[in-house]
Amino acid sequence: MTDIRCTCRTPRNAGATIWLTGLPSAGKTTIARALADRLRAEGHRAEVLDGDEIRRFLSAGLGFSRADRDANVQRIGLVAEVLARNGVKAVVPVIAPYADSRGAVRERHAASGTDYVEVHVAAPVEVCRERDVKGLYARQAAGAISGLTGVDDPYEVPDAPDLRVDSHTQTVRESADAVYAALAERGLV
Ligand SMILES: Nc1ncnc2c1ncn2[C@@H]1O[C@H](COP(=O)(O)OP(=O)(O)OP(=O)(O)O)[C@@H](O)[C@H]1O
Ligand SMILES: [Mg+2]
Repeated sequence: MTDIRCTCRTPRNAGATIWLTGLPSAGKTTIARALADRLRAEGHRAEVLDGDEIRRFLSAGLGFSRADRDANVQRIGLVAEVLARNGVKAVVPVIAPYADSRGAVRERHAASGTDYVEVHVAAPVEVCRERDVKGLYARQAAGAISGLTGVDDPYEVPDAPDLRVDSHTQTVRESADAVYAALAERGLV
């Protein structure tokens, strides 16, 4: 019997990287999880590559210098691209403060013809400081840590993201829906 397999691309097997960049406590992880839950419920393969988890393993030993932050982003970008090239929706809630690091990840995807969607989760620093989910803003203010992105370390605001999400004026659901809509526009869902 002939083995006939469908190799056609459908929204469900269309891989893509969805990179959520923004300040600490902007809402990247929360939106990523809500989006991935919805994608999985609809039958997509979705993986969330979260910064904290990755730093413990893939990027163990890296610190927060510019070079180390770039290396962290490039490693995550590599894994995301491999997953996305193989039909997975790789959702990446990682700060990625430097424009050239983000640009290199975008180029890696372009080189393999893999979809890449950059989302700027754009809550202003005052809102993020108020949320302070991990207590980092308070610790920085108390002098216990330094090099906090957006406070005493750079955050280069994306000048041409594929989508900007105002996570300070929206509910989590609205923000996740906005990202989903951007995927729909590209035929990825
Ligand atoms: N529209 C929204 N989108 C996302 N998060 C929101 C929104 N509105 C309120 N929040 C709240 O803001 C907080 C965001 O925390 P979250 O851990 O997702 O931030 P983060 O960007 O991943 O931070 P970090 O870089 O430190 O990991 C959560 O408590 C979440 O419930
Ligand atoms: Mg997070």
